[in-house]
Amino acid sequence: MALLIVGGAGYIGSHMSLSLLEAGHEVIVLDDLSTGFEDAVQATHFVQSSLADRELLDKLFQQNKIDAVMHFASFIQVGESVNDPAKYYRNNFTHTQNLLDAMIKHGVLKFIFSSTAAIFGEPLYVPIDVKHPKNPINPYGRSKWMVEQLLEDYDTAYGLKSISLRYFNVAGADPKGRLGERHEPETHLIPLVLRAASGRAPFIKVFGRDYDTPDGTCIRDYIHVSDLCLAHNLALEYLDSNGKSAQFNLGNGSGFSVQEVIDTAKRVTGKDIKVLDEPRRPGDPARLVADSKLAMRQLG
Ligand SMILES: NC(=O)c1ccc[n+]([C@@H]2O[C@H](COP(=O)([O-])OP(=O)(O)OC[C@H]3O[C@@H](n4cnc5c(N)ncnc54)[C@H](O)[C@@H]3O)[C@@H](O)[C@H]2O)c1
Repeated sequence: MALLIVGGAGYIGSHMSLSLLEAGHEVIVLDDLSTGFEDAVQATHFVQSSLADRELLDKLFQQNKIDAVMHFASFIQVGESVNDPAKYYRNNFTHTQNLLDAMIKHGVLKFIFSSTAAIFGEPLYVPIDVKHPKNPINPYGRSKWMVEQLLEDYDTAYGLKSISLRYFNVAGADPKGRLGERHEPETHLIPLVLRAASGRAPFIKVFGRDYDTPDGTCIRDYIHVSDLCLAHNLALEYLDSNGKSAQFNLGNGSGFSVQEVIDTAKRVTGKDIKVLDEPRRPGDPARLVADSKLAMRQLG
């Protein structure tokens, strides 16, 4: 197949592109390098441009045979989204609409969307299944939930078939070490813990030790980026064979506490990791764990 990978210079998009190339697919990467890295791009063809450019999108679909689109391009920092919601709604929602409109105009009707656990907000129960109410508590989560709702309407009206994959915490790197997790600034726990272990950061901050969890630190669900890529490949097959839009939660179903991650990093690296205790951050639930049963059942 010929796939357009939007956001392919980023952490997850680059791993996905590599897995598609290895499976023999043609990969066009579109990325404006706003948060991605050119040396991470894995592509048959790389276009450096933004989803803001509607003329370019039109030409891209006119000049290339594209069977399906995977969309990883968005801004992802929750705190920044609270301080600058315009930036988040514009890029994550409005620019996504540009992409979808171009797809429909050119008859490309298969779409896989990187959604997030942030659409659920404060969990009413865990593990969180696909039906859990959607009450996002920040502009990042709301911008993603708005896209999911748009996708439902675009299916009804224009026949656009989509799969929304709601990732919990994505972690890990290409097992052969060709790519890795890279964000600037980094906000994800595991790379921050490893920075502290390797001496590139003086300590790791732990936000809150008084949660209702066994060791008092927050519990999160980590899914390996290779497993996530596999889920995308299965979602693509599902769209191809089943032809129905769907939403799936993607996590491993077990939670690990912040303290467990730090202890494991200490054991694996053999390094001491200094911890700085900080108060709780607003909007951090005690536990976020995915119920991925629907994905296992329907995607295999
Ligand atoms: N990393 C996680 O743990 C996690 C968890 C849940 C959901 N997600 C979702 O997965 C997706 C990818 O996350 P990531 O960690 O790889 O982020 P990332 O920042 O590494 O990658 C995003 C890529 O999109 C590009 N981009 C952004 N806006 C663009 C635009 N308008 N036009 C073209 N390119 C643009 C960036 O340059 C970057 O290369 C995001 O949509 C994110 O919301 C990630």
